[in-house]
Amino acid sequence: MSEAAFYATVEARRTVRSFLPDPVPQDVLDRALDAARLAPSSSNLQPWEFVILRDPRVREAANAICLDQLPAKTAPLLIALISHRETWRRNRDEILRVFEARGGLRPSQVSYYRKLIPTIYTTGPFGLLGPLKRGLSRVLSLFRAVPSFGSRTDLRLVAHKSTALAAATFMLALRAEGYDSCPMEGFDPWRAKALLGLPRGAEVCMFLAVGKRGEHGVWWDRVLMPRDWAVREI
Ligand SMILES: Cc1cc2nc3c(=O)[nH]c(=O)nc-3n(C[C@H](O)[C@H](O)[C@H](O)COP(=O)(O)O)c2cc1C
Repeated sequence: MSEAAFYATVEARRTVRSFLPDPVPQDVLDRALDAARLAPSSSNLQPWEFVILRDPRVREAANAICLDQLPAKTAPLLIALISHRETWRRNRDEILRVFEARGGLRPSQVSYYRKLIPTIYTTGPFGLLGPLKRGLSRVLSLFRAVPSFGSRTDLRLVAHKSTALAAATFMLALRAEGYDSCPMEGFDPWRAKALLGLPRGAEVCMFLAVGKRGEHGVWWDRVLMPRDWAVREI
């Protein structure tokens, strides 16, 4: 893709709130999902999961959980994007396994993934260690720069940040394929978690309605904040 085509795609992505009924071809969806999997993530731990809602009964329940918003009701495809705070150990092990299979681990990789990551991510029984670790890093930070050794809240934030980047990549890839999307955080998080049977430490980051834009699919003209509210130099 040329530079111009990339910026044209970014420009053309809009939130679409009513869709045509045409299904999203599987190859388009697969390419967009594989693009999303390339998104950057904190420590490369890839805390996301895209759950494609194919079962009509699940879909109907999910539409209601999305408060029957028009994008959910009209999109041919609805995806629940899950953010996992507790898959770090499994994913860390996979990173180490792959590095090892590729010819052995460097000492820096061992110390990063075997020492630092557990120190950051372990919150102990009932998350009790979290506030202690957070307090300790706050005190240490008075003397030198330290990362915030997370409480559960910090780790939720970490997982949601990376998951949102995967969402952004996915939506841009869809646009490059000629398809549109609507990210939705207007939903009932408790019912969403129950519907999808999510484990502890997992929650829906957002729902994504996907399809081809309907005739009046984009509701409002784009409004951008002044550039100097968004960008500054110091
Ligand atoms: C995290 C997030 C949550 C959003 N939730 C909703 C939503 O629940 N319903 C909706 O219609 N649009 C939702 N939007 C879409 C925004 O309203 C939209 O991105 C914004 O108005 C800018 O328009 P644009 O995406 O067309 O540039 C959401 C967007 C983001 C990034």
